Amino acid sequence: MSFTRKLLAWYKRNARVLPWRQTRNPYAILVSEFMLQQTQVSRVLEYFPRFMARFPTIASLAGARPKAVMEQWDGLGYYARARNLHKLAKHVAETGDRIPDDPEDLRTLPGVGRYTAGAVACFAYEKPVPTVDTNVRRVLQRAFGSKDVWELAEQLVPKQGERAWRFNQALMELGALVCTARKPKCPECPVRSDCLAVRKVVRIRSPRSAHPR
Ligand code: ADE
Repeated sequence: MSFTRKLLAWYKRNARVLPWRQTRNPYAILVSEFMLQQTQVSRVLEYFPRFMARFPTIASLAGARPKAVMEQWDGLGYYARARNLHKLAKHVAETGDRIPDDPEDLRTLPGVGRYTAGAVACFAYEKPVPTVDTNVRRVLQRAFGSKDVWELAEQLVPKQGERAWRFNQALMELGALVCTARKPKCPECPVRSDCLAVRKVVRIRSPRSAHPR
């Protein structure tokens, strides 16, 4: 079975139910991805529903006073994210545009880097594009020994949008639950047989394969 098929089968059984996985609302996805940029899922689970209840639409956020936005963000840290999100909302409201679906267009918006652009394009619009956050970077570097993880992610991401959505969520989920930064749970990993890092450990420990090739 291919890397992707194993990953998707694992995701189906193990994915957490998270509010931003149950919507394709681009504004909701944008808010969640801004929050998730530097913050653990468990913290975002507290803040995201409150923020969405207070500012249910991008127009409501655009019309809010800066103080009201900061109050909702208070305690999440990295406050430039909140200022950028507010600026972005005002920009979209003023131009009368919708939130773009193209990563290149998304990246012109305040606070939107390559990762957030890919995440919004894929998670809101099901565009078959890669997105590489810290978790995905770690998974791909370990599994494939890849130097250019974006290039690899581009090659791996399924061409069909809904499958790409699941693929990207699954890579993030694997990084969060199994392929963790410290003490990864390799015995539980669905793609351990494809993993370069796992195979390297075997080689180092086994005298037979101490001199590969
Ligand atoms: N981190 C960034 N985006 C995420 C998502 N959609 N699900 C879980 N963790 C994430």
